[in-house]
Amino acid sequence: MSEQVTGRSDMWSNSFIFVLAAAGSAVGLGNIWKFPYIAGENGGGAFVLVYLICIAIIGIPVMVSEIMLGKLGRASPIQALLNLTRTHNRSTRWSIVGYMGVLTGFLILSFYAVVAGWVCYYILRLFTGEFTGADASTVGEAFGGFLADPMQVLMWFSIFMVVTIFFVARGVTRGLELCVRFSMPAVFVLLLILIGYGVHAGGFVESVAFLFTPDFSKLTPQAILIALGHAFFTLSLGMGAIMAYGAYVPQSVSVGTTTFTIAILDTVLALLAGIAIFAIVFAYGLAPDAGPGLLFETVPVAFGNLPGGALFGGLFFLLVALAALTSAISISEPAIAYMTERSKLSRAQVALIIGGVCWILGVGSVLSFNVWADVKLAFFEWTFFDSLDKITQLVLLPLGGLLIALIVGHVLPKQVVYQELGLLQERAQNAWSIVVGFITPIAVFLVFIIEVIREVFTHL
Ligand code: PHE
Repeated sequence: MSEQVTGRSDMWSNSFIFVLAAAGSAVGLGNIWKFPYIAGENGGGAFVLVYLICIAIIGIPVMVSEIMLGKLGRASPIQALLNLTRTHNRSTRWSIVGYMGVLTGFLILSFYAVVAGWVCYYILRLFTGEFTGADASTVGEAFGGFLADPMQVLMWFSIFMVVTIFFVARGVTRGLELCVRFSMPAVFVLLLILIGYGVHAGGFVESVAFLFTPDFSKLTPQAILIALGHAFFTLSLGMGAIMAYGAYVPQSVSVGTTTFTIAILDTVLALLAGIAIFAIVFAYGLAPDAGPGLLFETVPVAFGNLPGGALFGGLFFLLVALAALTSAISISEPAIAYMTERSKLSRAQVALIIGGVCWILGVGSVLSFNVWADVKLAFFEWTFFDSLDKITQLVLLPLGGLLIALIVGHVLPKQVVYQELGLLQERAQNAWSIVVGFITPIAVFLVFIIEVIREVFTHL
């Protein structure tokens, strides 16, 4: 496997495979599990609008930047930044973004795999027809019962973790391509079926109104930061995941086209998942702000009442699990790439070590829903799970994204960037410089700083 460490440029044999891999990284639990429940908790329409603006003015430029840095550096994010700053006589301190990304990856993977474990259990629950004909309260209680049992949750989390380590150990491309190529369109179709159910059951119109009618009185400063953080999370930005994949990109890939394709795909899937889930919420009079359990308390109700629902429902959760797997693989990539570069260990050994650390951390998240449910971080009232989720989404990813925009906008020589992006005309060059050098970093900075100051003051 050593050629995978050194021969990076031929990892993705063509640009389409890179697009698939990056889409596989972006589309995951962030779209289907997280986006709907945070939209529900933050009042719907206005939050969704801010999220879309963040994707456009922050997510897209940062994704272009990350792919470009990977392509230029041709190494793990840490090493790529070290290489680039050395080559251009800039401070190597900027490689701190790479180290932060490795840390962030550990934290995210540990709780991400716990939720993916819930999804795995639901594959079985649906296929066995457990929810056939079930009403909303039975489905809700079934989820509560599952979470309350730490051994069950631990087992499913461990299963997902082992599968992830297995794929990571085998190397990036194998299997991934096939998985994404078939599962992405299938998720799309099943979401449409769910939306069709919503039209039939009567919650569709209310769902669309909830998600697309902005009511700014419901928009808190914290919601703006959550939307910003989620734009990073859902596009896999701010921690080097896309940068690490960018290191394997063939030179011919157009960074701009790839980025737009992924951003649009990712956003469409999140919105469809939101429409589908809130249609069920409103059809059954459920609470939109049910929190992290929302997906598991709604979707089984719909499949339980559809003909062939056990089969399609099982398939739906299977596809969500696959989407989570392709994302989980990418979350570990910055750490894997760095450790394989720096040590004599094989990719498999490194995967085991990283997986082991994440597993230990993940136990804290498993317990957050039962044994440790009352163990909360001072001030914020966050459980262990909440703390990892919020610290990564609200602090580490935005900070990483801010630094990445600064590196591309101000640290690297402008001509190097223009050349890599193929920006020949002065107007295009200026527009890019203004966006990545000013608009993106200032937007992140303002949202981030205002919210942090506000939090500090309210908790003093
Ligand atoms: N984008 C993935 C999702 O939406 C999660 C992810 C976050 C992947 C950070 C890589 C890096 O599920």
